[in-house]
Amino acid sequence: MGVIARYREHLPVGPATPEIDLQEGSTPLVPSRNIGKALGLKNLYFKYEGLNPTGSFKDRGMVVAVAKALEAGSRVLMCASTGNTSASMAAYAARAGVRAIVVVPSGEIAMNKLSQALMYGAKVIALKGNFDTALETVRDLTSRYNVALMNSVNPNRLEGQKTAAFEIVDVLGDAPDYLILPVGNAGNITAYWKGFREYHAAGRSTRLPRMVGAQAEGAAPIVSGHPVAHPKTVASAIRIGNPASWEGATSARDESGGMIAAVTDTEILQAQVQLASSEGLFAEPASAAPLALLFRLVREGKIAKDAITVVVLTGSGLKDPDAALKNVEPPIELDGDARTLAKVLKL
Ligand code: F0G
Repeated sequence: MGVIARYREHLPVGPATPEIDLQEGSTPLVPSRNIGKALGLKNLYFKYEGLNPTGSFKDRGMVVAVAKALEAGSRVLMCASTGNTSASMAAYAARAGVRAIVVVPSGEIAMNKLSQALMYGAKVIALKGNFDTALETVRDLTSRYNVALMNSVNPNRLEGQKTAAFEIVDVLGDAPDYLILPVGNAGNITAYWKGFREYHAAGRSTRLPRMVGAQAEGAAPIVSGHPVAHPKTVASAIRIGNPASWEGATSARDESGGMIAAVTDTEILQAQVQLASSEGLFAEPASAAPLALLFRLVREGKIAKDAITVVVLTGSGLKDPDAALKNVEPPIELDGDARTLAKVLKL
């Protein structure tokens, strides 16, 4: 079952909305085995969004946005992307049999995300400039031509993405104390907060979480309070200098009593390795940013030991092998038999 079928009564869909799901959503909320223990946190969970059909949380919003675009008669879909949105849009467009055009910042997105968009049959434009200029160009074009804009400025995207908050409450039986996630274009933090508030209003939870957003230090416009002209970070998914849902993010932060803070690339890559090697969860660098921030908040004594904390792992580590390989020992090259192998392994 996809998110539309599962949460139909909370979504802007009706009998005329086509069903085009890839059985997205219903991702595991994995309890921590080792990191929580090391930090002294009793209730740490990872929402493993990398298990969505195209490997990121984007599928939740995309299925709703594409279904609504089809319902409205659109035949050409377009987005700007740091990679995951384009992969997701291309997949659902393929499923629906409509044209997909994706605009990515040239040379700035992870190779496997690019391969996804191409394999799903999208027309891919690698535009000179960064994500912010790509989005500006796409917004301009879609306002002039009969082409549907599929970025998260399309409200149907956020409607679908809010289902991740519903799932967390459905599993835990209530909202967590902290929800920690990466912030790039700021759609997801906006969507989660909407989801938690709606479920609370519907009597499905007794409380609301504090929303904690992580940005990368070289791409932290919300933390610094002004747009960043040339955002830089190893976490290419969140290499964004002027988030479209800026206000949504600051509202989520302020209304929930949360925070948005920046972590360094070094902290991000360390957290990524630690997550993989001590929990068996491989997430892309952007998804490790909230874990890096959690490490810092625990060090500073800002998280109570018995708090229920959910870290959202937004995308699969398989998305960006280049970033991951920079941070681990390369394989041992060997030409020999079992005896030499045993010697090398010091068995
Ligand atoms: N994590 C991953 C893996 C992402 O791909 C993104 C955004 C984010 C976090 C941040 O979410 O933008 O809602 O604040 N990726 C977009 C894209 C920009 O084009 O794929 P956000």
